Amino acid sequence: MLNQQMNAHIAEAAAFIREKTALSPEIGLIMGSGLGVLGDHLEEPVVNPYHDIPHFPISTVEGHAGELLIGRLSGRIVVLMRGRFHMYEGYGPELTAFPVRVMKALGVRALLVTNAAGGINLDFASGNLMLISDHINLTGRNPLIGPNDDSLGVRFPDMSEAYSKRLREVAKEIASMQGFALKEGVYAGLLGPSYETPAEIRMLRTLGADAVGMSTVAEVIAARHSGIEVVGISCITNMASGILDQPLSHEEVMETAERVKSRFLGLVTSLISK
Ligand code: 6GU
Repeated sequence: MLNQQMNAHIAEAAAFIREKTALSPEIGLIMGSGLGVLGDHLEEPVVNPYHDIPHFPISTVEGHAGELLIGRLSGRIVVLMRGRFHMYEGYGPELTAFPVRVMKALGVRALLVTNAAGGINLDFASGNLMLISDHINLTGRNPLIGPNDDSLGVRFPDMSEAYSKRLREVAKEIASMQGFALKEGVYAGLLGPSYETPAEIRMLRTLGADAVGMSTVAEVIAARHSGIEVVGISCITNMASGILDQPLSHEEVMETAERVKSRFLGLVTSLISK
């Protein structure tokens, strides 16, 4: 899409949201499969279904409600995406990252991304939470392809600290205070929607990945481009293929997300207050 046109779309979506609420969010939250419950904890939320927001894509996956909430959480004003856009749905990377650009236009300075991911690291188990230390973008796509918008960020953005070291330290302190083991590792972002083969999982392990999923990387690239600080948490909803002797299913992903809900909520709400 032409740059100018994209800019106009971002501005129109942001203007629509600003008209709905006087609250001006400083933190953005993108909730992965089954993790949208956090939205139920916002105080006096303004709920915008995606289909109401100009130029917003509509998410099509089960377990993704498809609404943008603005409200207070842990004393902060946040904008929360319940459901996100995946490239396997057929959206290009620039649409997947579009909400992040809108968040930036609304004044967001820090972004918390969460996702459901398969465990590759053999020290992981289903139900673990993993702080994302870094990612490997294996989607073959990038939201910054095309003419660069210098008003948003530089042509060749630095990705040497995509996931804020400062915020990771805070997350680790909270987990240790709350008494649970928070894993840390590298997230490999693939296109999907088929899960990987056992051979692909062995390859990813060799490449240095600890977990694998189908989201997050495009959003984080767009966030870093525009100078937003990022922290990411993967919910290890299942072990990746070939590790346990059982098939993978979206039902298992949703069930595990449901099971770890309270630990996840505890970590995220504290993280936001800090
Ligand atoms: Cl094993 N792979 C991918 N690509 N995404 C997932 C997953 C696995 N488990 C949850 N999400």
